[in-house]
Amino acid sequence: MNEIITLGIETSCDETSASILKGGREILSNIISTQIPLHQKFGGVVPEIASRKHIVNIMPVIDESVRSAGIKLKDINQIAVTYGPGLVGALLVGVSTAKTLAFALDVPLIAVNHLEGHIFANFLTYKELEPPFLSLIVSGGHTALIKMKSYNEFEMIGQSRDDAAGEAFDKIARVMGLPYPGGPEIDKLAKTGNPNAVEFPIAKIEDFDFSFSGLKSAVLNYLNSANMKGESVNYADVAASFQKAVIDALVNKTIEAANKFNFDKIVLAGGVAANSALESTLKTNCEIYGLQFFYPSKILCTDNAAMIACRGFYKSLTNSFADESLNAVPGLRL
Ligand code: KG4
Ligand code: ZN
Repeated sequence: MNEIITLGIETSCDETSASILKGGREILSNIISTQIPLHQKFGGVVPEIASRKHIVNIMPVIDESVRSAGIKLKDINQIAVTYGPGLVGALLVGVSTAKTLAFALDVPLIAVNHLEGHIFANFLTYKELEPPFLSLIVSGGHTALIKMKSYNEFEMIGQSRDDAAGEAFDKIARVMGLPYPGGPEIDKLAKTGNPNAVEFPIAKIEDFDFSFSGLKSAVLNYLNSANMKGESVNYADVAASFQKAVIDALVNKTIEAANKFNFDKIVLAGGVAANSALESTLKTNCEIYGLQFFYPSKILCTDNAAMIACRGFYKSLTNSFADESLNAVPGLRL
């Protein structure tokens, strides 16, 4: 094999994942072992349970990624691993495993920022995509607008001042009695509801920051007050109206930023990118404003190791390698 083979490892939250990438953009395998059913009965991710499950899963997942890629361990040229942001105990499992394997195989180690990984999921979906572009990252832990000038230059121009978009989806879903993770559940329920049924407020913030806590309180107040008055609530309408408010905030700011900074490409990333209404609303707006729109295939939107391997590959091109002192950085920023 004459192209670089990268093993990617991702354990930042509740998915244990390993991927084999050939060159920068060809996925040979992308194994994802999700812990969602395990955490569902607690209504959210329990950090200690997540770490313990990663410990059990990590080697079988790596073995499976190597086997299904049709390669041998000795064919791996480098190892890319998520070292933050995320849950510290969960990250440490991936980081320790990657360091040990890199030492045993005598190959370089690459430390990957999980958020950068989410953006790079798009390079796997679109072989022709190149920076510069404006990226909107919407995940369970982060909401941010990022100018990506080149493969290694990121500038954050706005972020959420409180809850991340995915976090707001998960919290509202929980009070409506929907299982964790709430985003896909609200997405599904909203399809049968009227997005204009309830007018929930969108925070008016002047720069490119976001805020979802006011919206979250407004939905909670609406549900509580209906409950106290003994009125029945149309949950599908509430889901659709809440979702519309989140999407309007995200889409308006993204288009405004693209126009202000003269970007002609918009790249969506992160778990909430899997939301069908967000995808279609952003797509329509991009068409109106003459912008090209990119979003990852569904499986690459949520956490996976292929996006980590891809980010690692591009980092390796600049000789940006980690050493054996690599540690997890739970609060890592871009
Ligand atoms: O990026 P991700 O897999 O993990 C983090 O890095 O945080 O994102 C997970 C988040 C969760 O909050 C989940 O509810 C949300 O993405 N999500 C969605 C959808 N699918 C996943 N939110 C809205 N609509 C969806 N279809
Ligand atoms: Zn993520």
